Amino acid sequence: MLEQKILNIKTQALENIKKAQNEKELFDLRVKYLGRKSGFNKILKSLKDLSLEEKKKIGPLANTVKKEIDEEIKKAEKIIKSKVDLEKEKIDVTAPGEKIKRGHLHLLTIVQNEIEDIFTSMGFEIADGPEVETEFYAFDALNIPKNHPARDAWDTFFIKNQKSKIKNQNLEEKIVLRPHTSPVQVRYMQKHKPPFRIIAPGKCFRHEATDASHEHTFYQFEALVVGKNINVGHFKYIAEEFFSKFFKKKITVRLRPSFFPFTEPSFEFDINCTVCGGKGCSACQGTGWSEIGGAGMVNQEVFVASGYPREKYQGFAWGFGIERLAMIKYKINDIRLFHSGDLRFVSQF
Ligand code: DAH
Repeated sequence: MLEQKILNIKTQALENIKKAQNEKELFDLRVKYLGRKSGFNKILKSLKDLSLEEKKKIGPLANTVKKEIDEEIKKAEKIIKSKVDLEKEKIDVTAPGEKIKRGHLHLLTIVQNEIEDIFTSMGFEIADGPEVETEFYAFDALNIPKNHPARDAWDTFFIKNQKSKIKNQNLEEKIVLRPHTSPVQVRYMQKHKPPFRIIAPGKCFRHEATDASHEHTFYQFEALVVGKNINVGHFKYIAEEFFSKFFKKKITVRLRPSFFPFTEPSFEFDINCTVCGGKGCSACQGTGWSEIGGAGMVNQEVFVASGYPREKYQGFAWGFGIERLAMIKYKINDIRLFHSGDLRFVSQF
């Protein structure tokens, strides 16, 4: 009787072990067949009431079956575990890869490239000049004489203890970080004959306190168009063409009289507000206009300093801030963000 009971438990247990799907089910089977409250335990406990002969027969049988069940469970556990491991190692080759974060061009570079593209499409060349300049190119050649109060308009960084020898003269001059891109006008004209049209984008520096609209390091782009019959009409037309292309809408420009030593006449240059179109809004403080920069007809003194004969050519020029244009186009309210290195700003564009 007892023998049959033990064999029944074994058959049932082995069947259930075969069916088990996971580690939890196997654990439950172990408790059910081998645990403290299991049928086996009951049988083992009742052995003491049996006759010696029966004890000899049932005891070892119960133990072998118990061992067998234990071994079967262990085997089943191993198989399930290796299946789980395989599942973990499986690679889904069709799964999309993890995106690698890529850097991109800085907004200033993007805008500068855009400006260059528009001007080259209008037949302009791109000119370049050094960021560390001599006083001659930064001031003298631009009709800003030494000791003249006009020089104060450019809060210039001078390079300490460094002077440059003036060619063919026994004189030295100071070296500066250029406060504007206008020196490139002279450098270009010394090497090229009119007619030509160029823009010269680049970095400039000024020794001044910074705030939301002033930065010690900033970008300008100079324009210079020289020929025999260039007049303010050409200037207005080119400027309107450029700004309409840059802002991708019709832009009108306005010139106000101003003064720069290197132009005569000189203008302050405005465009109609790109937010309200000229009606007046908070972006343009209700004026309908945005100030862009300085411009004018090239002063003959600058032609002479560049080696051209007086009164032979005419030309127009301007110097506009690249940050300023980027701020209007992308609605940025603080110029200091450009050089802040703050990725929250940089990665937006
Ligand atoms: N160089 C001037 C500045 O930075 C801007 C400027 C004004 C440039 C008039 C020009 C010009 O070429 O014609 O303040």
